[in-house]
Amino acid sequence: MKKFKLSLVIMTLLVAASCAVKYAGPTQKMADQCSTDMASLEMGKSLLEQECQDCHKLYRTTDFGPEQWQHIMDEMAPKAKITDAQKDQILTYITCDIKSKK
Ligand code: HEC
Repeated sequence: MKKFKLSLVIMTLLVAASCAVKYAGPTQKMADQCSTDMASLEMGKSLLEQECQDCHKLYRTTDFGPEQWQHIMDEMAPKAKITDAQKDQILTYITCDIKSKK
């Protein structure tokens, strides 16, 4: 019975881990594809991870299209209390990541 409980715990943990969104990169290829640099992408990614999961889980970049993300970021930037520059960096990372997955 104990073993059964333990395997339940392990299975729950595994499922939880596979559901968590992990952002990729950045890679040089991503940066080249959307004419930016690794440092900007790294910045956008860490902002996204730091500022965007206080209220809800992280969304995958591919959950929405680039145009939808524009609108979403206009809505979410005031909620996350980030600057316009930070908003743009997050958008750059998101659109690059979407491109790199095509
Ligand atoms: C202060 C809380 C808060 C913060 C911080 C926040 N969000 Fe949200 N977010 C919400 C709420 C509430 C909703 C659902 C209702 C809505 O769409 O306004 C939402 C919805 C979303 C959605 C789903 C939109 C849809 O159309 O289904 C996305 C994507 C999203 N947020 C991304 C982000 C990103 C990216 C950031 C970081 C810049 C962020 N959120 C920061 C509160 C927040």
